[in-house]
Amino acid sequence: MARRKLVAGNWKMNMTPTQTTELVNTLKPLVASDDVDVVFCVPAIDIPAAVEAAKGSNIKIGAENMYFEEKGAFTGEISPDMIVDSGATYVIIGHSERREYFAETDETVNKKVLKAFEHGLTPIICCGESLKQREQGITIDWIRQQIKIAFIDVTADQAKKAVIAYEPIWAIGTGKTATSDQAEEVCCAIRACIRELYDADVAEAITIQYGGSVNAGNAAELFAKPDIDGGLVGGASLKPDFGKIVNYK
Ligand code: 13P
Repeated sequence: MARRKLVAGNWKMNMTPTQTTELVNTLKPLVASDDVDVVFCVPAIDIPAAVEAAKGSNIKIGAENMYFEEKGAFTGEISPDMIVDSGATYVIIGHSERREYFAETDETVNKKVLKAFEHGLTPIICCGESLKQREQGITIDWIRQQIKIAFIDVTADQAKKAVIAYEPIWAIGTGKTATSDQAEEVCCAIRACIRELYDADVAEAITIQYGGSVNAGNAAELFAKPDIDGGLVGGASLKPDFGKIVNYK
């Protein structure tokens, strides 16, 4: 069975709750699709407004981060229960900006992935290499390590439902998209790594996205690749262009 495409927006630190209502209402008709699954990952404080505005549409809502403890003295953090109770069903884990600015590691990513599954949230697990690593020729080794650690103790049934987003750091917010061949090479290697960790069934079921300067002009070529099951979109997810990315065909 062919995998469904998943196009997710990552709003990053943009939009107030009031602006969220407006933006979801603007994008709602544009992202309507029977073929593609659509997720808006929004700042935690915007989740209730996004859920409310998205009611009755095909849009699912996700968080951009989550803590790996249940509750307690962790000032400023957001728990899995809080996200679930707000109506979100996805959560981005280990985005490169979280790793760079907020000291997240492969180990904390793994803890968060396990916690997300425990609470029935679908994790969008991010991986990606820096420009320096690409130039050193260690991209595939690096990504394999990130994936292997992220999936420690994740069961095969859970892994089938996971989403992996391959986001080369040098392509994020730079307008410098990976070529579709570069993106496919790594997404294919990620699927092979999942096959080694689990089996062919899990590798065929898991969703692998590409992210990094995806826009209305390059989405069709990227998403046509056999191992690229859609995209994680930053800047362009805040614009009407997002509708064109979802309806890329
Ligand atoms: P851009 O699409 O703005 O490059 O951001 C990609 C990204 O980081 C999505 O998570």
